[in-house]
Amino acid sequence: MIHVIFVCLGNICRSPMAEAIFKDLVTKKGLGHAFHIDSVGTAGYHIGDLAHRGTRRILERYGIKCDIRSRQINQQDLEKADYLIAMDQHNMSDLKYQAGGRLLDARLYLLLSFAETRVKDVPDPYYSGNFEEVYNLVNAGCQGLLAHIREKHKI
Ligand code: 4NP
Repeated sequence: MIHVIFVCLGNICRSPMAEAIFKDLVTKKGLGHAFHIDSVGTAGYHIGDLAHRGTRRILERYGIKCDIRSRQINQQDLEKADYLIAMDQHNMSDLKYQAGGRLLDARLYLLLSFAETRVKDVPDPYYSGNFEEVYNLVNAGCQGLLAHIREKHKI
């Protein structure tokens, strides 16, 4: 199984959106059996909460189900993930800090490094309120990530 974990700050806006979109893509390609897909926050502000209403609404508009509850990253996540996919550079540096001496480099990526987008960080809609823009960026990143993994793992 290829273990993919999407990471943002609160695990209520961006990373659950990425988890839901990526699961949807993988399922539609018939590749569900090959993946374990999850999302976490670097912070624990919203542990147990459903995704933000804005995230749930936009996913619903695109016919994607989302009943994810927020959780905070733990040491097992850092050990088990094959791909740790950060939404922005803050998440990336928080992950490196939380990993201590553990080497994450070859497993840690920015989501938008897989997309041909103008920006490299997924902006936080918790502050901007722009869930449509975030959906488009996250969708582009997820498509690129899946293409990368399929090529690399020959699936
Ligand atoms: P997310 O957005 O990292 O995309 O889930 C945020 C959610 C909550 C907070 C900040 C960002 N917060 O400060 O509570």
